[in-house]
Amino acid sequence: MEFIHLSPANADEVSDIDLSLFDNGFGPSQIRAELSNGTGVGIRYRGELVAYAMARADGGMVDITRVGVVGSHQNRGLGHAVLRLLLQEVPSERYILCVRKTNLHALKLYFNEGFKIVGMLERSWVMLRG
Ligand SMILES: CC(C)(COP(=O)(O)OP(=O)(O)OC[C@H]1O[C@@H](n2cnc3c(N)ncnc32)[C@H](O)[C@@H]1OP(=O)(O)O)[C@@H](O)C(=O)NCCC(=O)NCCS
Repeated sequence: MEFIHLSPANADEVSDIDLSLFDNGFGPSQIRAELSNGTGVGIRYRGELVAYAMARADGGMVDITRVGVVGSHQNRGLGHAVLRLLLQEVPSERYILCVRKTNLHALKLYFNEGFKIVGMLERSWVMLRG
C-alpha cells in the first residue's frame, strides 16, 4: 500500500474511478482542474490507484470535493485512510463537504471522522468539521 500525492498528470486514472462511482462523475479535464486548483491524495495497491480524495481551500474553510474508493476495495478501511491523509495534507480549522442523504456508507465514514450535519442542499446534507 502506497500513499501518494495526486497531480494533474493523474487526471485520467482518477477520472476513470470517479466516473465509475458517481452519476455526475468528473471527466479528465474537470479532474485536472480540481488537481490544479486544489490538493489531491491517493492510495495505490499493487500499482493500481484504489482510493483518492480531493479538496480546495476557500478562505478559512477547506471544501472536500471528492472521496472515492474503487468498488472492489471498499469496506476495508481505505475510505478512512484516504480521508485522514487528505486532512493531514490540508490542515485547517474547518472542513466542509456535501453528501447525498441516501449515501449511508459515506455518512457513517464522515460521522466517525468528526463531521456534523449543519444544513441541507436539495438531496444532500452539508457537513462540517471544526
Ligand atoms: C464512501 C466511501 C468513500 C467509503 O470508503 P470505504 O473504503 O468503503 O470505507 P471504509 O471501509 O473506510 O468504511 C467506512 C464506514 O462505513 C461502514 N460501511 C461499510 N459498508 C457500509 C454500507 N453498505 N452501509 C453503511 N455503512 C457501511 C464501515 O463499517 C465503516 O464504518 P466505521 O467508520 O464504523 O468503521 C466508498 O464507499 C465510496 O467510494 N463510495 C462511492 C463514492 C462516494 O459515495 N463517495 C462519497 C461521496 S460524498
